[in-house]
Amino acid sequence: MIKVNVDLQERSYPIYINTDYSQIGKCIHSAKLTGKMVLITDTNVDKYQADECVKAFVEAGCEVNKFVIPAGEENKNLDTMRDIYKFLLGLKLDRSATLIALGGGVVGDITGFAAATFLRGINFVQIPTTLLAQSDSSVGGKVGVDFEGSKNIVGAFYQPKFVYINVSTLKTLPERELRAGLAEVVKHGIILDEEFYEYVDYNVLKIFNYDEAVLQYIAKKNCSIKASVVEKDEKEGGLRAILNFGHTIGHAIETVMDFKLLHGECVSLGMVAAMRMALYLEMIDQHSVDRVKGTLDKIGLPTKLEGIDVDSVYNQMFYDKKIKGSKLTFVLPRKKIGEVIQCTIDDEDLIKRVIASLGE
Ligand SMILES: NC(=O)c1ccc[n+]([C@@H]2O[C@H](COP(=O)([O-])OP(=O)(O)OC[C@H]3O[C@@H](n4cnc5c(N)ncnc54)[C@H](O)[C@@H]3O)[C@@H](O)[C@H]2O)c1
Ligand SMILES: [Zn+2]
Repeated sequence: MIKVNVDLQERSYPIYINTDYSQIGKCIHSAKLTGKMVLITDTNVDKYQADECVKAFVEAGCEVNKFVIPAGEENKNLDTMRDIYKFLLGLKLDRSATLIALGGGVVGDITGFAAATFLRGINFVQIPTTLLAQSDSSVGGKVGVDFEGSKNIVGAFYQPKFVYINVSTLKTLPERELRAGLAEVVKHGIILDEEFYEYVDYNVLKIFNYDEAVLQYIAKKNCSIKASVVEKDEKEGGLRAILNFGHTIGHAIETVMDFKLLHGECVSLGMVAAMRMALYLEMIDQHSVDRVKGTLDKIGLPTKLEGIDVDSVYNQMFYDKKIKGSKLTFVLPRKKIGEVIQCTIDDEDLIKRVIASLGE
C-alpha cells in the first residue's frame, strides 16, 4: 500500500493507495476511529462498489449503516443534505461517529459538508471512486453543495481523517468519466511536473487497460502534487489558484454549453485555449502547444468545439466567482510545461481570438 501525507498541522491526514480494501481495518485503527460509521454513496456506486466496501468495514469490526443518495450533480443540494441529516438523526450518533464518502466528487462534497456540520463536526473518511475524485476533489478539504444555480456556493473547508483510494474501483466507471478525470491529471503535470506529464502521455493505453501499477503511480503523483499546493495555501489565498489552469475558459464553456459536456471535457478545451494564449503572448512555443493538444487527443478529450459561441463564452467568464474586479485572470504556462504563472489580461481581442481558435 502506498501512503501520501497531506501536511496541514493538526488537520494533517494520510492518503492510502491500494488495489483492494484489504487494508481498511488498519487505516481505521491508525486514525483511532471507534464510533458508529455511516457510509454514504450514490445509486450508481451502490450498484457496483458498495457491497465489497461495506464488507471490508464489517470484517474490520465496524458497525456500518449505509445511506444512498440519488446520483448526479443535480442532487448535490440542500434537499439531499436534509435527507442525510434526517438519517443521521435517526441513528442517534454522538461525536465519535464517522461519515464515509464512497463515490465521486458529488458524494465526497456533500458527505464532507454533512460531516463538517452535523453535531458541529464529526469524523469524515473519503473513499473516492472516480478518477476526478481520486486525483482532485478528495484532496484539499473543500466540501459543499450547490444552491440556487450557483455551484459549490454553500460549503466549508473540512479535512478528512484519511482518504483511501482503491484504484480498481475505476474499472466500473463509465469510460467517458475516466477520460474526463484525466484532464485534471494532465493539468497537474502541466502546472508543476513535466516528468509526470510525460509519464501520463506515455501510459495512456495502460490507463485504459486499468494497469494497476500505472493507476497507483498516477494516484500517488496526483495526490502529492495537489497536496503540495494545498499545504502551502489551504484556504485559497494565492498559490492554490494555479489549480485553475484551463478553468477560466473551461468553466465558461461548461455553463454556456448548459452542462452537456463534462467538467473535464471543458477543462480540456480550456487548457488548449490557455496554451494558445501563452503562445500568442510569446510565453511558450508552438511545439509545447502541439504536445498538450496531442496528449488530450490521444486520451480522447475534446480539443475543438465546432460552432463555439465566442461572445457568450467571453461574457460568461465575467460571472465566474473567482474573478476579482472586472479583469480576467488566467493561469498560463511559462517557458515550458511544468511551470505556470497567473496573469491578469484585459485584451478583449486576444481573449476572443483564443476562444474562437477552439472552433477552428
Ligand atoms: N472538493 C473539491 O475540491 C472539488 C474539486 C473538483 C470537483 N469537485 C466536485 O466534484 C463533482 C464532480 O465529481 P465527479 O466527476 O467524480 O462526479 P460524480 O460524483 O457525479 O461521478 C460521476 C458519475 O460516475 C458515477 N460513479 C462514480 N464512481 C463510479 C464507479 N466506480 N463505478 C461506476 N460509476 C461510478 C457516479 O454515480 C456519477 O454518475 C462536482 O460536483 C464538482 O463540483 C470538487
Ligand atoms: Zn476542475
